[in-house]
Amino acid sequence: MFGVGYIQKPFVENLPAIPENADYKQASLPIEKRVDDLLSRMSLSEKIGQMSLVDKNSLVKEIDISRYKLGAILSGAGAKPKDNTAAGWTDMISSYQTEAAKTRLAIPLLYGIDANHGHSNIPGATIFPHAIGLGASGDSELVERVATATAEELADTGVNWSYSPSLDAPKDIRWGRVYEAFSDDPEMISKLGSAYITGIQKQPADTAEPTILASAKHYLATGAQNWGQSDNKNFKIDQGKVTADEALLESEYLPPYKAAVDSGVASIMVGLQKWDGKSVITSKYLITDKLKDDLGFKGFVVSDWYGVYERAGNKYAATVNAINAGLDMAMLPYDYKDFERDVTKAVGKGDIEASRIDDAVRRILTAKFRAGLFDKTNEIDPDHKAIGSLNNRLLAREAAAKSAVLMKNDGVLPIDDDKSVLVVGSGADNIGRQSGAWTVEWQGIDGNWLPGATSIFKGMAEASRNAKVAYVPNEQFNQNVRMDVGVAVVSEKPYAEGWGDTEKPRISEEDLAAIEFAQSHTDKLIVVVVSGRPLFLDEQELATWNGLVAAWLPGSEGAGVADVLFGKQPFNAKLPLPWPATIYQLPISSTGVTADKTPPLFPRGFSSQ
Ligand code: BGC
Repeated sequence: MFGVGYIQKPFVENLPAIPENADYKQASLPIEKRVDDLLSRMSLSEKIGQMSLVDKNSLVKEIDISRYKLGAILSGAGAKPKDNTAAGWTDMISSYQTEAAKTRLAIPLLYGIDANHGHSNIPGATIFPHAIGLGASGDSELVERVATATAEELADTGVNWSYSPSLDAPKDIRWGRVYEAFSDDPEMISKLGSAYITGIQKQPADTAEPTILASAKHYLATGAQNWGQSDNKNFKIDQGKVTADEALLESEYLPPYKAAVDSGVASIMVGLQKWDGKSVITSKYLITDKLKDDLGFKGFVVSDWYGVYERAGNKYAATVNAINAGLDMAMLPYDYKDFERDVTKAVGKGDIEASRIDDAVRRILTAKFRAGLFDKTNEIDPDHKAIGSLNNRLLAREAAAKSAVLMKNDGVLPIDDDKSVLVVGSGADNIGRQSGAWTVEWQGIDGNWLPGATSIFKGMAEASRNAKVAYVPNEQFNQNVRMDVGVAVVSEKPYAEGWGDTEKPRISEEDLAAIEFAQSHTDKLIVVVVSGRPLFLDEQELATWNGLVAAWLPGSEGAGVADVLFGKQPFNAKLPLPWPATIYQLPISSTGVTADKTPPLFPRGFSSQ
């Protein structure tokens, strides 16, 4: 039986049925006219539903989509259908859309996921390099193609909204989200962020799928939080406090959003950090005055996970503050019943103006019309051929090669085909590690599986025409081998968000042992770092290495890393952010000035090619 909450809810509303010839249903009419018509027919509860974004695992019942007339559903990281295949996703989303279509107005849902590096919830999808690698490529044309390919895979399952790109600007490598960002350089972030938005929102010319909407995140100044000032007791930097004066906001943090707005970004996600002593989500100054009025953002503003309520004592007041600050859609992601109750009450009492609600809903509906959601039949290829397609994998391989930064080379690279190569290290044959977090699970997977993917070692074995390439795992370091060149692929275990905040990002003991083994069993050593951020290196040890490559988190196509190691592709990438020498240098300003004013180990833009 349904509880009281269900019975009292909107079914009691006695609203007129909608005629088939209603203006908003006419694809031939201009979007503005359709929005006006639809808005004029909506009850308050229908409007509040459009402002609600609910996590699919938090839906008490699927029927709540129609009961609460929800506007948008998301799969928070790792929230997947039982059948985690392209077909399983398509069925799940189309069943939710069917539920939404049962409502009086039949407004289609937005369905959002974090396509941070491809449609990465699905094993078998193409996993592109995480953004930091794309930042190292500095190549906007490549980024645009990666985003378009991502859109193609999303559309192949009915997803129509992605929480990407990140426009964050990491100042401190101890933060667990460095790799989600392109760079710490506002110009590079603007350039690649815009390319990504253009690419992902592009209407694929030859398909019936809707355009995928982008969401630039996390507004504003995320990445500049101070170490040790997070209000989340589990974290050190993530969700913490940002120190930035007006001048810095104007010169560094707003420009990438200006570029995103100019590129037509459909939505912008507000982060969980605090600026000027309060949560950004409550800042009318940042959201309405700066973003909407000054930058002219006409899309809709969405909060981050639980962002309205995070750290807020009183939920009613938090809801009122956020909406009055300019929030249009709340990623609740659980409390949709409370949200409906509170917004209804707030409008009734005059705490929120009805015109603010209309503005929010107008923005959301405009984005839905722009995406063609009302008009397309959403015909999805029953074979889901785009998912993990050969073309997309080749693109991911190209992107992995274009992301790898050559940091040291005494002539050992590229590796000659006639050399024998000993491969060691935790990242050598571990697709989970090279893909990083936000891959199938929020915190990623540590291990060698993902259908269709290629580990770096496998890629090396295939890329070298004549060379003998052998992988020796740490457990077999008693082996008596002798080879020409050692390649130690050291890696970080995957991590996401504040769970990756760590005081000293560095090479693990296990990988140091692998380096030592390779050095004593080969003539020349190349260290390949697979990581989401620069790792502190021992400079004396570094002096004994013959080559060093930063491969970042290259994704499912480890062959791309092999391509540059063997010279099938040139090294072209440059450090997307400074590589610090010591912890005392943190944070580092966007102009490259370290905290203790000493030079970093390698500056941004460095490469030794
Ligand atoms: C993250 C966002 C993400 C959202 C939805 C939050 O925890 O901060 O980046 O888009 O979850 O998964």
